[in-house]
Amino acid sequence: MIKKIVSKNFDIKDSHKLKVARENDRYSSLKKLFSMSPEAVLDEVDKSGLRGKGGGGASAGAKWKLIPNPSDKPTYLIVNADESEPGTFKDRQILEYDPHLLIEGIICSSYAIKSNHAYIYIRGEYVFWAKRLQTAIDEAYEAGILGDNVLGYDYKLEVTLHRGAGAYICGEKSALVESLEGKRGHPRLKPKQKEPEWFFDCPSVVNNVETISSVPFIIKEGFEAYRAYGTEKNPGTMLFGMSGHIKNPGIYELEFGTNMLEFINKIGGGMRDGKKLKALVPGGSSCHVLKADELEGITLDYESLKAHGSSLGTGGMILMDETVFMPKVVKNLFEFYHHESCGQCTPCREGVSWSDKLMGKILDGNGTKKDLDTLLSLSFLLNGKSICVFAPSVAFIIDSYINKFKDEFYSLVK
Ligand SMILES: Cc1cc2nc3c(=O)[nH]c(=O)nc-3n(C[C@H](O)[C@H](O)[C@H](O)COP(=O)(O)O)c2cc1C
Repeated sequence: MIKKIVSKNFDIKDSHKLKVARENDRYSSLKKLFSMSPEAVLDEVDKSGLRGKGGGGASAGAKWKLIPNPSDKPTYLIVNADESEPGTFKDRQILEYDPHLLIEGIICSSYAIKSNHAYIYIRGEYVFWAKRLQTAIDEAYEAGILGDNVLGYDYKLEVTLHRGAGAYICGEKSALVESLEGKRGHPRLKPKQKEPEWFFDCPSVVNNVETISSVPFIIKEGFEAYRAYGTEKNPGTMLFGMSGHIKNPGIYELEFGTNMLEFINKIGGGMRDGKKLKALVPGGSSCHVLKADELEGITLDYESLKAHGSSLGTGGMILMDETVFMPKVVKNLFEFYHHESCGQCTPCREGVSWSDKLMGKILDGNGTKKDLDTLLSLSFLLNGKSICVFAPSVAFIIDSYINKFKDEFYSLVK
């Protein structure tokens, strides 16, 4: 069940320091990397079937292939370290315990897309992790791992860490790029056809911290070694999280396709204090909630979660026991989304704030059945009518929680 590829060094003392990192495999993929052409590296990653681990699960190889080759403009790798999805805390484990793995992944990935400058965008509040990562970057420059000649090879790479100002929406890739360009973090309109991201009009790739950190293993061991784990459509592993009323909360690296209930009961140790599991969200708060009796047969992969009416998301599972009152959960989530809506699209700006106010009125005992019906109808307003998928996530919350726990919501209204 547990397979350590990305988390291999997490338990080693001082694994974040360059000396210890190098004693434990870090940067060992680079010799092979530089014996290959960038095209061959891209092909290896493509064949590995590596999927993005920031929530959407897009193929990393397919995304990298969107970069024109040759490109008449500089190309950029942008690493998304914004990690603001409630219930998600996996990327920070990499930054804390193995920042050199991320830097090694950045070198491999930048080389594949012929980029000489990579940016890491980290959420402003993550001061500790930003400092830790910057220290690792400084160490890497000092050791000649970054800079004009990466480890003495004929390849130049600069890495810049950029701290955001603390906004959930800046994790959305196009808002992130806008913010990195010095503008307000508003998502961009989606192009009609598949395109790279455009950073100052230059073709760029945005990938999650864990996605990029998975690349050194693929280069060093080959795509087949990666495909030996997981399932046909979901190769490899992912850092799955458990938080909430579980006995053993934390981050665990598992093969895709692991049985969800086994994960909860065997690794998670079941629910705390002998209580029963009531419900969970599988991958951050933006996924549909699942009731305990809906979990039979679910495996931790994109297809299985979709077939069971939710999504894998970030793999950050939030577990709630039988003492949890769902209207309070929904109010808590609405407050978060109300605060974080960037306000660019009217349905989102107005719809999320309205949902929050209505839920407050209902929880205060002043709501009517009509208010609940209005709340349910807001899901239509929020779904599919905005630039990004922030508003649809709120629609998923309305639909799944209210429909699955109707009695609790209707018990509050006259
Ligand atoms: C509101 C919102 C917030 C997001 N936050 C993050 C985030 O914090 N980190 C992340 O990697 N992806 C986040 N994403 C997904 C990114 O838009 C993008 O798909 C991802 O960074 C691509 O990397 P990947 O293919 O390696 O997963 C978010 C998306 C949305 C709509």
